[in-house]
Amino acid sequence: MATLVRVCGIVGYVGHRPALDVVVNGLKRLEYRGYDSAGVAIGTGEHLAMERKAGRLANLEAQLDAVGRARFAGTSGMGHTRWATHGAPVDRNSHPHSDTAGVIAVVHNGIIENFAELRAELESRGVEMASDTDTETTAHLIALAYTEGETKADLAASVRAVARRLEGAFTLVITHAEVPDLVVAARRSSPLVVGVGAGEHFVASDVAAFIEHTREAVELGQDQVVTITRDGYAVTDFHGEPASAKPFTVSWDLACAEKGGHEYFMLKEIEEQPEALANTMRGHFGNGRVLLDEQRISEQDLRDVDKVYVVACGSAYHSGLVAKYAIEHWCRLPVEVELASEFRYRDPVLDRDTLVVAVSQSGETADTLEAIRHARSQKARVLAVCNTNGAQIPRESDAVLYTHAGPEIGVASTKAFLAQIAANFLVGLALAQARGTKYPDEVAREFAELEAIPDAVRRVLSTVEEMRALGRRLADSKAVLFLGRHVGFPVALEGALKLKELAYMHAEGFAAGELKHGPIALIEDGLPVVVVMPSPKGRATLHGKLLSNISEVQARGARTIVVAEEGDERVRPFADHLIEIPAVATLLQPLVATVPLQVFSAEIARTRGYDVDKPRNLAKSVTVE
Ligand code: AGP
Ligand code: GLU
Repeated sequence: MATLVRVCGIVGYVGHRPALDVVVNGLKRLEYRGYDSAGVAIGTGEHLAMERKAGRLANLEAQLDAVGRARFAGTSGMGHTRWATHGAPVDRNSHPHSDTAGVIAVVHNGIIENFAELRAELESRGVEMASDTDTETTAHLIALAYTEGETKADLAASVRAVARRLEGAFTLVITHAEVPDLVVAARRSSPLVVGVGAGEHFVASDVAAFIEHTREAVELGQDQVVTITRDGYAVTDFHGEPASAKPFTVSWDLACAEKGGHEYFMLKEIEEQPEALANTMRGHFGNGRVLLDEQRISEQDLRDVDKVYVVACGSAYHSGLVAKYAIEHWCRLPVEVELASEFRYRDPVLDRDTLVVAVSQSGETADTLEAIRHARSQKARVLAVCNTNGAQIPRESDAVLYTHAGPEIGVASTKAFLAQIAANFLVGLALAQARGTKYPDEVAREFAELEAIPDAVRRVLSTVEEMRALGRRLADSKAVLFLGRHVGFPVALEGALKLKELAYMHAEGFAAGELKHGPIALIEDGLPVVVVMPSPKGRATLHGKLLSNISEVQARGARTIVVAEEGDERVRPFADHLIEIPAVATLLQPLVATVPLQVFSAEIARTRGYDVDKPRNLAKSVTVE
């Protein structure tokens, strides 16, 4: 199944209205998705009027006012809100991108994986690139295809010829100054819908962009190209053969459309986790090697690393705890996982052979930022795992691996957390390959197991209804305990954090082996205890010991909710409620075991009538210490 990439916003229009108004308002409808820059291109009949600005849409609108909106008179055009993946979020990297002559404009959602070789090819042909993005290569390639060969003067054919050369996930929308009142769009593994109006047509990454004008839409399929004009649309495959696309009528209202039909962004983001994982892995493995996004550390420096610290906060810290098991196992390196807010105050022992991995969704968390500044002052090297291109933490790091979870609107982290775990695994594999503790074929095998996880998460998402029902039934509980061992222990901590954050309920995660050292005193009749079971195929002793721990709490009246690998029959007698998850490699289990716990806490919060997206007292990015 093709993995969908849900990243930022795209709007294209051909019709009878002023295109600038339609496009800017359409982008406003997509603002909720989070973005870092915006831009428009409008066909005036003589040329393409283009403007783009980093920051909020308001910055773009101010710029349009400053240059005079009259310059953007036309009835066809397009717009974009960007979530940067390649190239910092500054004006010159904002979309649209154009060819050197400025006659073609392209906006793009997604990731062009083979952009580096395309860029090299263009530069060898004397093309001067004006940005750092992967996107710009497509504008030049389409312009070249449009001026020569069998696709000469045929925009749709030129787009198809280029689309066939691209690897990765993309929605591209293209206009040409000499072809007014026509917009072409292409998609692979990234959403694109057509809006069908009277004397006007739209293309967009989300129906929210045009729902105020029409509810008649058409969902494009994989590897398809659509051409829209005022009076119609035509769909082909990438080879020009006519293709069918699925018409539908949008039943959602605008508020619902913004959340993809979900009641809350977080619920949509839980559903987006398979593609967040697929996108995070996409482009980070090539020619048999794990690839970082930015590497200002030599391979020799990586080989010389003799100690790793992972510093982070909250859920990011929990992702670091998972990373510890993998990095120590794969790299035979000592790993300490530290709360960023504690790290620099305990005067850690750091030197130039220490690698500090800073994990942060926002890339702006003050505790984590100050921790890496301290680390660098001690000559340690810093590698950032971040979901926000160009944020302060990656900017101040020696190497960067970006997660591509897309914007995460819900304050409680879900898809970004899973993407952090996957990214941390990639860091571990990059270290193992640099140090030679894993042969290339072993790295490739571990990477292949990671690539199978999005489908495993999809299967979990299709079977979590029982966990939702449990959440509704237990919504009045006073507290819930979470137990785990090995990589299940960080999952227990994350499950407890989700319940605290979302339902304001007392919750605590424990290493199950710690129960007898105190926490078992908390067990009382009816107390829900969630247990994350390791695979029975892993360390059998761990599995057996955890069954004993469950017996101890059951004997004292606990209500046990056991998350276990499907087919693990030994668990059944210990589970008042058994939640089955797919069997995956031991170290990768957190990527599937976390999902039921996210759903459980979200459902309890919903049942309690709380705002799942904006929990009380919390901010999405904590930029104060
Ligand atoms: C996670 O659900 C919380 N919202 C919070 O713990 C978060 O993980 C923490 O504040 C770290 O944020 P960062 O990843 O942006 O640095
Ligand atoms: N990869 C493109 C860029 O970084 C598009 C990002 C997006 O989907 O907004 O500009």
